[in-house]
Amino acid sequence: MKINDEIIVDIEKITPTGEGLCRFGEKKFVIFVKNSLPDEKIKIKIISINKHFARGQIVEIVEPSDKRIKPFCALYNACGSCQMQICDYNYSIKLKEEILKDIFKNEKGIILPIIKSSKTKEYRHKVQFPVRQTKNSKRVLIGYFKENSHEITNIKFCCMHPQIMNKIADFIRNNNIFDCYDEKKQNGLLKNVIARISSSDNSIILTFVLNINEKKFKLYKNDVLDFARKISEEFKNIKGFFVNFNEKNTNSILGEKTIKILGEDFILQKLGDKIFKIGAVSFFQVNPYSAFELFNVVKENIKENSTILDAYGGVGAIGIFAGNKAKKIVLVEENQNATQMAKENYELNCIKNYEIFSNDAKKQFKIFRNENKIFDYTILDPPRSGCDKESLEDIVKISKNIIYVSCNPITLKRDMEIIRNFEFEPEFIQGVDLFPYTYHIETVILFKKGERNERN
Ligand SMILES: C[S@@+](CC[C@H](N)C(=O)[O-])C[C@H]1O[C@@H](n2cnc3c(N)ncnc32)[C@H](O)[C@@H]1O
Repeated sequence: MKINDEIIVDIEKITPTGEGLCRFGEKKFVIFVKNSLPDEKIKIKIISINKHFARGQIVEIVEPSDKRIKPFCALYNACGSCQMQICDYNYSIKLKEEILKDIFKNEKGIILPIIKSSKTKEYRHKVQFPVRQTKNSKRVLIGYFKENSHEITNIKFCCMHPQIMNKIADFIRNNNIFDCYDEKKQNGLLKNVIARISSSDNSIILTFVLNINEKKFKLYKNDVLDFARKISEEFKNIKGFFVNFNEKNTNSILGEKTIKILGEDFILQKLGDKIFKIGAVSFFQVNPYSAFELFNVVKENIKENSTILDAYGGVGAIGIFAGNKAKKIVLVEENQNATQMAKENYELNCIKNYEIFSNDAKKQFKIFRNENKIFDYTILDPPRSGCDKESLEDIVKISKNIIYVSCNPITLKRDMEIIRNFEFEPEFIQGVDLFPYTYHIETVILFKKGERNERN
């Protein structure tokens, strides 16, 4: 097999990154094919190849799956963010269940059906758009990067976030007064626009990420303030306007410093009988409808009057939601904007017995271990990369039960094997669909400590 060969293949299954997998020839060489579905016969062109696998591009769908549908988004091919729009929602859930069964193939009988999202469109309540300009005409482009590139698809209409965001993006396109960032030359001011939208009252906080440091901001402050006033006047839902300074040319969207320019410090998001302040740059689940379901899974598995460690706790959301009747909640989070919000959220929800540690989780776990602290439940909700081995070795020593919440089942599986070495066993594996029409799966595993390893 070589580059540009055209061959016909049968797609076997979907991989955790949403690609179809097929095998070719006597050696059953693995080939990944984007935008394909299980049971399809497809003519592909080989576009890359290495020792272990190849990638093929669809030339013709010879026998389509009976589950294949036309993507409802006109930008499906150009954008690439919603890989699973080629089948209906129920089938996409079935595929995600297959992905989980494949990853956790040795866990018999504990993988539960995925909890679907009650809203499958306009569910994204956090939007992050890079902003660039065309070279000659200086037309402003706002949208998403095409997959594996830094080329922007100018998105005039996306049905995955509240529609007001399309209007706000259009307003910025038409009224922008700033030079937009040029990655090659590393000049231009406006890099990204970030919006956070409450699903409870539709209020919005908007953040402009600027390619300068705070000192240089003096030169632009009046213009930014004028723009903030103008856009807030046009869209009454915009309650707060922030700027973040990020001069670095890296993949990180945000720089360290964020300041408020106009309006409120936060928006309010209700989930069930709880209410949360969410700041401009602190983490909160993008899909509040499914976040409610996710938090309920955690809540149903925590006994009243327990001590809870909310590790990687953000603004305190899961702990507050799930630990309603806890004896004590201890939050560990490194982002200081988030811990400030967490403090306000505990007060807002009348939780009195809490403690907050603004610290790197790994360092704080070590401190707890050295202090012989034991928590009835540790809610572990790390970033996509999961936890490192040392942290997990400390966590198992300070926890009676671990409720691991993960947006990446691959790192979750890796971490599960480490947790298991310490006599913890998984009780259930529960997928929750936080990201409809994408391949992403949020997964919760409850680990209970075996009798043999109980500490005195
Ligand atoms: C997936 S979010 C979970 C937030 C929260 N549990 C929630 O559901 O809203 C991960 C959180 O971990 C925090 N974080 C990332 N690395 C960290 C570290 N090394 N130490 C402490 N917190 C960290 C991030 O700031 C973020 O708030």
